[in-house]
Amino acid sequence: MRITLTVNDAAYPLEVEPRRVLADALRDDCGLTGTHLGCEQGVCGACTVLVDGEAVRSCLMLAVQCDGVPIRTVEGLTGPDGQPHPLQRAFSAERGLQCGFCTPGFLMLAAGALDHDLSENEVADLVRSNLCRCTGYEPIRRAITRAAHAHQNGQDGRHRSV
Ligand code: FES
Ligand code: FES
Repeated sequence: MRITLTVNDAAYPLEVEPRRVLADALRDDCGLTGTHLGCEQGVCGACTVLVDGEAVRSCLMLAVQCDGVPIRTVEGLTGPDGQPHPLQRAFSAERGLQCGFCTPGFLMLAAGALDHDLSENEVADLVRSNLCRCTGYEPIRRAITRAAHAHQNGQDGRHRSV
């Protein structure tokens, strides 16, 4: 099938089999390898991207379902000025990563939630959605909380999360 994926505001015309999953299309067809694949069955969340502003497991979606729908991946977090996204700065400041394999998924999970004015309990619930083998989750929770507070207080320089 001929489709066009719109990823980080760029158009990627593709010819894919109907069974092609979004994660493979992003990585192998679009060359956007920042989206990681861990379990490939919807458990770990390493493959999380935003589809129409909502965080989804890209290993569970078909590329053809996303034809013409705006997609944002971790490559699209950096602003047009080249500055890191407030979430990226918060992960760095709070040491919210070690090996970094899970990090793109956590960043996109959090990016999809920042506009919802998360409470501390909601951040804790959010962090449980994805798996990390390294950090013990607490630095990730602190990083997302830090970015959420800055976002709510208008101190992150962005009116929207992405
Ligand atoms: S690779 Fe998609 S949830 Fe694990
Ligand atoms: S930082 Fe290594 S899996 Fe999360």
